[in-house]
Amino acid sequence: MQANVSREPTMSESATRLPIESADPAEDSRLFRRCLGLYGTGIAIITMENAGQRAAVTVNSFASVSLDPPLVLWSISHASRSYPLFKAGGPFAVNILASTQMGVSRHFSSKIEDKFADADWSPGQHGSPLLHGCLAHFECETYAQVEGGDHTVLIGLVRRASRFEGEPLLFAQGQYSVAYAHPEVSAAPEVSGPKPEMPSQAGIIPQIFEAHHLLSAVFDEHRHAEGLDIPVARVIACVYDIPGLKAEQVARVTYLGQRDTEDALATLAERGMLVSGTAGELTLTEAGKRLREAIQTRWRNFQRDQMAGIPEADLRTTQKTLSKLISQNRAPN
Ligand SMILES: Cc1cc2nc3c(=O)[nH]c(=O)nc-3n(C[C@H](O)[C@H](O)[C@H](O)COP(=O)(O)O)c2cc1C
Repeated sequence: MQANVSREPTMSESATRLPIESADPAEDSRLFRRCLGLYGTGIAIITMENAGQRAAVTVNSFASVSLDPPLVLWSISHASRSYPLFKAGGPFAVNILASTQMGVSRHFSSKIEDKFADADWSPGQHGSPLLHGCLAHFECETYAQVEGGDHTVLIGLVRRASRFEGEPLLFAQGQYSVAYAHPEVSAAPEVSGPKPEMPSQAGIIPQIFEAHHLLSAVFDEHRHAEGLDIPVARVIACVYDIPGLKAEQVARVTYLGQRDTEDALATLAERGMLVSGTAGELTLTEAGKRLREAIQTRWRNFQRDQMAGIPEADLRTTQKTLSKLISQNRAPN
């Protein structure tokens, strides 16, 4: 199968492309969320302290609004326990997460009682808690609040902005991600420079990135062919491997948010692929198991087809090189 990831569709191709699904969001909120999930974002923790009470929520609704005056926004669900504290106004801080802080995101999106007890933080100059290890802090005062259905949009006037070293944590299609340059973006000026004597030496790491990008896009087509998006594929694999888990355990194992996990579980149940026992324990039906096995077969065939014709010795050398690169860059536990 051939994926055209590196070519933009022509005007006539775009005009004739049919949506995979489409509906009125008032009638299908899961579809609405799947569409929203296609817009990749960063992740921030919004923190505040008021009269000795602290609150913090993980959000991906953060956005910039204005440079002059410096304004940012985010929105809070009325179902959040922290809503009354943020609704009362006062200062808050936006803590932009680094790629190393997936655990921090999960911690602050959980329902644990005191989210600050196990966190590394210190008070900022404007009174809000600032989390350590973040990429940026925006210390804000509440500038305006706008009601928007089941959320309130909070607009903050930024009093102090601080930046730190690191790479951002991203969130797209219901999963945590990291950013790397698109293979079509030419190599950064500091690594392009004069032509090297051995092209393979200069080119191997960009080639690994490009191969990863292209292979992922091609395999995505197999997932789509089975009617699965990323969260559903992760959940079905998880319940297949560990039957009997409950919804919150599935969210932990798959690294999906609670809501994406619940949406994926509901989709699988509606399709007759998943059943829930009296205590909430989840198992796949025969149809669910068949779907998971179909994906596994596609994966095995994909590997076999991609490697066809490459001599065994070359594969062994490539594997040795990749293992070395992985072990010398893996963060210590
Ligand atoms: C990736 C991600 C993004 C989220 N974005 C938002 C958001 O923009 N607004 C919001 O109210 N909740 C959002 N949530 C859910 C909250 O983090 C979660 O409901 C909240 O922290 C619960 O805490 P509380 O009930 O203690 O206030 C998000 C969760 C995750 C995992």
